[in-house]
Amino acid sequence: MTQSPPKTYHVKSFGCQMNVYDGERMGELLAARGMTAADESLDADLVVLNTCHIREKAVDRIYSEIGRMKREDGSRPMIAVAGCVAQAEGAEISRRAKTVDIVVGPQAYHRLPGLIDDAVAGRAAVDTDMPAASKFEILPGRARRTSASAFLTVQEGCDKFCTYCVVPYTRGAEVSRPWNAILDEARALVDAGAKEITLLGQNVNAWTGEDEAGRAQGLDGLVRALDKLPGLARIRYTTSHPNDMTQGLMDAHAEIPSLMPFLHLPVQSGSDRILKAMNRSHSRDSYLRIIERVRAARPDIALSGDFIVGFPGESDAEFKETLSIVAETRYAQCFSFKYSSRPGTPAADMDGQIAPELMDERLQRLQAAINREQLAFNQATIGKRTQILLERKGRQAGQLIGKSPWLQSVVIEAEDVGIGDLVEVDIVSAGPNSLTGAVVAHQRA
Ligand code: 5AD
Ligand code: SF4
Repeated sequence: MTQSPPKTYHVKSFGCQMNVYDGERMGELLAARGMTAADESLDADLVVLNTCHIREKAVDRIYSEIGRMKREDGSRPMIAVAGCVAQAEGAEISRRAKTVDIVVGPQAYHRLPGLIDDAVAGRAAVDTDMPAASKFEILPGRARRTSASAFLTVQEGCDKFCTYCVVPYTRGAEVSRPWNAILDEARALVDAGAKEITLLGQNVNAWTGEDEAGRAQGLDGLVRALDKLPGLARIRYTTSHPNDMTQGLMDAHAEIPSLMPFLHLPVQSGSDRILKAMNRSHSRDSYLRIIERVRAARPDIALSGDFIVGFPGESDAEFKETLSIVAETRYAQCFSFKYSSRPGTPAADMDGQIAPELMDERLQRLQAAINREQLAFNQATIGKRTQILLERKGRQAGQLIGKSPWLQSVVIEAEDVGIGDLVEVDIVSAGPNSLTGAVVAHQRA
């Protein structure tokens, strides 16, 4: 069956920040084709669901989202499933959900326009290739406007093969984007209004490349080059793997003020036996030693982590080691998840799968411990004078929310400042999830 060519689009991204970035790039690609953005999915002729495959719940959400793509008059938009579910399930998606018109993987989305043409003509439109030529070389330039805090993907894929994780299969092998392409995109983002850039990669600190002079560089070299970009006030990066945490990157934290004092360094578990079963290739102790060295370089650095509870075979004593590493590290914030068995990963076939009720109980205990640490970290900033980057409006009229250097959300009330401004504040109070600040002085963009 043929359809009329879509004129409007809506991209909805789920999951990680790299999906947010890919979603923006797909939007720019469709705009370059002459399509216009619609605010709501059901108002659009084409809906792109940019999906996440990391846990079973994330996948279930996508299928219920597809089910909701129906207008009151019975019609529906053209539906494209992009992202990691597309990569993992391929053509199976359109068999399970008949209303899906297009399936496109995370390394093939530059081909979305051709796939739309296929769908319009009633042809099968499935592309889960991982082509040798990078999509980044083909995508159009960045949009002329961006938010104050922008994402820039510099690295994709993962070679670590943690036994629970689908990423090495859905995103493919580790690939670094070239130096010049990154600097050009960073300049375009700053010209479009970005004050802060977060460099993204599944293993961002594994980034390697060569600079203009042909010298080998790591992520620290890239950060030093970005630091020289006029107008770029803040640099961040995420997500890092403990084994790729180089001395050079730690030195950059000590020496470069625009590199924000924040490090997301997942450990997943505090137990050596579980870390081994997860194939994490670091121990509890080697992780804690890295943290010590990072803190020696930048004493005020805020640390963040990811944790999985209920990995197959996890005993109560092993879980308690996870609780104790949270207390020992003194995290500023953490993400914690119940283990989710993923088809095709080695852990899915391991003995000792943990009962859901026990996972629930462990997650609650872990989250209580994390909340205590977050509150303590936030309370320690009360009385400090610091700078925040205003990013959005708050819930109440007159409120604005910005981010501190340590990535805390800070709520202020002020009339003569706006989104995109860097504002000097005194921190006056703190809860586990946000702070309030009083404006001292401000600089307009
Ligand atoms: N089950 C639960 N959590 C997972 N993560 C990755 N794979 C799984 C899984 N199968 C978590 C890890 C990772 C974060 C992005 O998601 O903590 O760091
Ligand atoms: Fe997944 Fe491990 Fe790679 Fe992170 S390092 S993306 S958890 S395989």
